[in-house]
Amino acid sequence: MKISVIGAGNVGASACYLLIAKEICSEVVLLDINRQVAQGKAIDMMQASITLGAKTSIKTTHDYKDIENSGIVVITAGIPRKEGMSREDLLHINIKIMEEVVLNIKKFAPNSIIIVVSNPLDIMNYTALKLSGFSKNRVIGMGGILDSARMAYAISKRVDTKEIKACVIGTHGEYMVPLLSQSFAGNQAVKDIFDKKTCEEVIQETKNGGAQIVKFLQTSAYYAPAACICILIEAILNDTKSPLPCSVWLDGEYNASGVSIGVLAMVGKNGVEKILDLPLNEEEAKRFQESVNSLGDSLAIVDKYLRNINH
Ligand code: NAI
Ligand code: 2OP
Repeated sequence: MKISVIGAGNVGASACYLLIAKEICSEVVLLDINRQVAQGKAIDMMQASITLGAKTSIKTTHDYKDIENSGIVVITAGIPRKEGMSREDLLHINIKIMEEVVLNIKKFAPNSIIIVVSNPLDIMNYTALKLSGFSKNRVIGMGGILDSARMAYAISKRVDTKEIKACVIGTHGEYMVPLLSQSFAGNQAVKDIFDKKTCEEVIQETKNGGAQIVKFLQTSAYYAPAACICILIEAILNDTKSPLPCSVWLDGEYNASGVSIGVLAMVGKNGVEKILDLPLNEEEAKRFQESVNSLGDSLAIVDKYLRNINH
């Protein structure tokens, strides 16, 4: 299958490199408005690929025609917040980028599955879904897999076993909901292993996982995000029907409607094959509702923007 990645920055290029090194697909197209950067990185990757004996080819472009026949398109294009810029300012800029990217995907790869990575993740996934008109199973936001990886890491530092499964739902942001009842070390739920203080530390380290990296690097994470993108792509390509926490459109599931937010979903060849119910306790259900509510203001901005461009 051909896979296209929009945005050749840290996350997009790292995802491409993994796709090539692991030979996950036959062809990768890397598109960026900054063609020089995309080209430079692609040449570097091809030289790595020859050294590794990998067979996946890579093409760089700034022409959307080259994404034709892609089975999956990953969106990592966007800009981060700069000094003096409000979240609303950032949202306006990123919606415009999303508009350009998604309308081109709709035109040149109308049968693809879209994986949204750009932030604010749940809002950008909502925007992509609305702009593309694709069925809800074909627009998936990658955020919860990364947050769950961060939770698994926090747990791993406190237990001996390497068999760790963590689950984080809700928004990919400060209102994320790390689920102690649905996260396991060996076959024991985390809530039953740790005392209250340690459980709270795991939750805080999970929530702080992204910011901690920004503090060291002055930019956000990219290796783990790239690995999480690949997990999602492999689930689709191999039709694994794996349960993965993803941002998806809800129609009443988890008592929420008309939003895209992180929940556990079964991912296979059709994208989101099914939304899986999780037995949340009272506290987790309350936190999830707060997470849903936190999207309200941003969704109003997107809806207003979409109404204006439709006129
Ligand atoms: P970056 O700044 O390194 O790369 C972004 C790239 O997008 C740049 O190469 C830029 O030229 C390109 N770009 C900008 N406008 C474009 C357009 N209209 N068309 C095509 N390309 C365009 O940023 P990085 O670190 O790669 O992050 C990318 C996005 O992913 C950000 O929004 C970031 O917040 C988000 N992110 C999301 C994660 C998640 O778990 N969902 C994890 C890590 C990052
Ligand atoms: C992260 O969580 C910024 O979404 C990005 O690292």
